[in-house]
Amino acid sequence: MPSSPDTLARMGGRELKRIVYSQEEIARRVSEMGREIAEAYPKDEGLLVLGLLKGSFIFLADLVREITRPLHVDFLVASSYGSGMVSSGNVRLLYDPEASLEDRHVILVEDIIDSGTTLNRLVPLLEGRRPRSLELCTLLHKHIARGLAREPRWVGFDAPEEFLIGYGLDFSEDYRNLPFIASL
Ligand code: IMP
Ligand code: MG
Repeated sequence: MPSSPDTLARMGGRELKRIVYSQEEIARRVSEMGREIAEAYPKDEGLLVLGLLKGSFIFLADLVREITRPLHVDFLVASSYGSGMVSSGNVRLLYDPEASLEDRHVILVEDIIDSGTTLNRLVPLLEGRRPRSLELCTLLHKHIARGLAREPRWVGFDAPEEFLIGYGLDFSEDYRNLPFIASL
């Protein structure tokens, strides 16, 4: 697939294999998700949107602007991958939210659910902080995880079993700045 000059520049000269979700498709879906999330919670109850860094940063930024109700934003930094394409099974929390979760509705926002290791480790940890409710929202779901601690309530796209990059997703920290999602 011949890539546009902009894309080639962002790719450091490497050609893309295939665009899986275009910028327009992503924008449409994120807008729908934002509307659904806004409708799912009583307006007078506190909502905390917790982004799991780094992969969710672009999705989260777009998503919260589509949620037309008061909310707070915080982040979690967990690291489960080394620099390659295979999950190591280790999850380390490198940053913990300052915001208290107690008695608030919490949505944990992920870029992609692959093996589910990250979520299986994080869900019990966050539940222990006694939120009023805890739901998961992921842009992409590969549906290959066995024994997920909890199924996400909001899923952007059911993703193919390929390694995906762009719109926040990286391969060894590269390609997060692609405005669409592609397979490598
Ligand atoms: P899991 O713990 O195996 O579910 O993986 C979760 C994390 O691995 C995601 O938040 C991503 O950062 C990363 N990851 C999993 N699959 C992909 C992929 O296809 N492309 C880029 N990153 C991925
Ligand atoms: Mg990553």
